[in-house]
Amino acid sequence: MRILLLASAFNSLSQRLHAELRDRRHQVEFQLAGDDEELSATVARFRPDVLLAPMLRTAIPQEVWSELTCLIVHPGPPGDRGPSSLDRAIQDGRTEWGVTVLQAEAEMDAGPVWAAEPCGLPEHGKSDLYRNEVSDAAVAAALLAVERVASGTYVPQPQHGPGWRRTVRTRPFLRQHDRRIDWAADPTETVLRRLRAADSQPGVLDELCGGEWFLHGGHREPLLRGRPGELLATRAGAVCRATSDGAVWIPELRRRRTPGGPATFKLPAVTALGALLPPLPEALAPLMPDEGERPGWSDIGYREDGPVGLLRFAFPGGAMSTEHCRRLLAAYRFALGRPTSVLVLGGGRDFFSNGIHLNVIEAAQDPAAESWANITAMDDLVAEVLATTDRLVVSALGGNAAAGGMMLALAADEVWCRAGSVLNPHYRLMGLYGSEYWTYTLPRRVGAAEAGRLTEQALPVSAAAAERIGLVDRVLDCGPGEFGANAAHLAGLLAASPAAQQRIAAKKAVREADERAKPLAAYREEELAVMRRQFFTPESPYHALRSAFVHKRPVPAGLLART
Ligand code: COA
Repeated sequence: MRILLLASAFNSLSQRLHAELRDRRHQVEFQLAGDDEELSATVARFRPDVLLAPMLRTAIPQEVWSELTCLIVHPGPPGDRGPSSLDRAIQDGRTEWGVTVLQAEAEMDAGPVWAAEPCGLPEHGKSDLYRNEVSDAAVAAALLAVERVASGTYVPQPQHGPGWRRTVRTRPFLRQHDRRIDWAADPTETVLRRLRAADSQPGVLDELCGGEWFLHGGHREPLLRGRPGELLATRAGAVCRATSDGAVWIPELRRRRTPGGPATFKLPAVTALGALLPPLPEALAPLMPDEGERPGWSDIGYREDGPVGLLRFAFPGGAMSTEHCRRLLAAYRFALGRPTSVLVLGGGRDFFSNGIHLNVIEAAQDPAAESWANITAMDDLVAEVLATTDRLVVSALGGNAAAGGMMLALAADEVWCRAGSVLNPHYRLMGLYGSEYWTYTLPRRVGAAEAGRLTEQALPVSAAAAERIGLVDRVLDCGPGEFGANAAHLAGLLAASPAAQQRIAAKKAVREADERAKPLAAYREEELAVMRRQFFTPESPYHALRSAFVHKRPVPAGLLART
C-alpha cells in the first residue's frame, strides 16, 4: 500500500511506524503536519491509499479526510476523547489503558474505530510509557488497521449505534492549574503521579528557590525526610524535595520564560538552579548496594548475577553530558574490577543513549568548548569498552538509541535490543561527522557500503531491519518491563556457554590484530579532527541545528543540505 504518514513531529512513534511499515514492503512517505496546502499537494502527488497520523496536534483538513481514508492514532481506549488522554490517565492513577486507531471526521476522536489495543500503564513517566507500552499497542493497532483497510472489506465500528458498547468520555486539555502540586498537603503518591503525567513535557509549573520552574521527572526517595516543599539534598544532578509524607527526586528543571525574555529549556536540576541552589548535602547512592539496602533513585547502578555484571544507566532523554560520561566511565571501571565474564551495559527500559547532551552544551558559556569536552568524555568511555578484552561485553538496548549513543552500543561484543527499539545510527541531522570510534565499529559490523547508506540516508532503523543488516545481534521480543530480566537471563546463558572462554581469548587476538592494522587512537584522531572543525567554526550547521533542536524550533531552511 501507499501510506502517507502525517505527524506534528517525526517523533519516536512516527519513526517506528515508518520503519515497520517499510519493513512490510509498504511504500511510505512522511509529511510534517501544519501546512494544509503542502499536505494537499503531497496527497495529489503521492496518491496514498491511506493516511496514517501517529501524533497530531492539528486537525486534518476536510478536503483531505473526505476524499481519503485518514487514520488517527489516539492514545486512549475506544470512547476516550480529548487532547490530554495519556496525561490524565497517568495523573488519575490508571494502570490499564489502550490505544485506538480511528477514522478522521469533523469531530475530534469521534470517527469509526478501525482497531484498538489495550496496554498497561506501569509507574513511569509519560514519555517513557509513550515510547514503550503505548508505542507497542499503537504499532499493533496501526498495523492491524492498515491490514483492514487493505482488505477492502472491513467495516470500521462507528462510535454509536447497536454495535457500540462503550461509554464516550470527552475530557479537556490538562492545564497547569490541574497539574499543580500542593507540597504541604499532597502525599508522595499524588506528587509522583503529577510529575509522571507531565514528564517529559510540559513539566509541572512550581516555585523553587525564589523562581518559577517547570519540574521534569520524579522518583520516590525512601529515606530522606524534611519540611514539606523543602529541598533536602542533591544526587547526580537531581534535587530531592520533601512531600507531606516523604520525598521525591526531581532530575530536571526548566525556568519559566519571562515575557520578552530568552527561551528556556530543560537542564539537570543542579545546573539549572546554579547559584540559586542553597547549600545541600550530596546524598551519594552506592553504585553496588548491599543486599537489602534501598538507596532509592540513581541514574547509574551496578549489580551481579553470578558471572554476569549488570551496569544499568538511565539518563533523561538519553542525553549524556560530560559529567554523565565521566561518572559512567568510573562505574564501568568499577565493573571491570569485578570477577565476571559477561558485562551487560544498559538493560533498562527506554532510551539507551542519544549521545552528547545538546541542552547542557547549549546552556554552556562556551558551547564549542563544552561540545569538545563532551565528545572527548564520550570517546574515553567508548575506548574503555573497546579495550575490554578480559570478558564479553553486551549492550542491551531496552529502548531507542541514536547518534553517538548508538555508536556507544556498537563498542560492545554483542548488541541486543528490544523488538520495539528504533535505532538512528547517524549524526547528519545534527550537522556532525560523529566520533565514538564509529568509523571503526560501524563498518566492522555492517560493511562499508551499508555503513555509508545508514549515515547518508539518516533514516530510523527498526529492530528487525537492524538484525537483518547485522547492526544488532539479537532482538528480544518482549514487553518493556521484561526486557531487563530477559537480557540478564540471556547473559547468564552466554556466560555459562562453553564457547564463552574461547570467545574471550579470540577477542583479545582480534583486538591486537586490529590495533596493528590501525590503532584505535588513529580512528579517534581522524574523527575528532573533523568534529573539532565543526565545533569551533561558529558558522557550521551544527550550532544552528543544535539550537533549533534544543529550543524545539523548525530546522532553518536549507541547513540540512549543507551537512
Ligand atoms: N541531548 C539533549 N536532549 C536530547 C538528546 C540529546 N542528545 N536526544 C534527545 N533529547 C531529548 C529531546 O529533546 C526530548 O526532550 P523532551 O522529551 O523534553 O521533548 C527527549 O530527549 C526525547 O527526544 P525526542 O526527540 O522527543 O525523541 P524521539 O524518539 O522523537 O527522537 C532522536 C529521538 C534520538 C531521533 C532525537 O531525539 C534526536 O535526534 N536526538 C539528538 C541525537 C544527536 O544528534 N545527538 C548528538 C550527536 S552524538
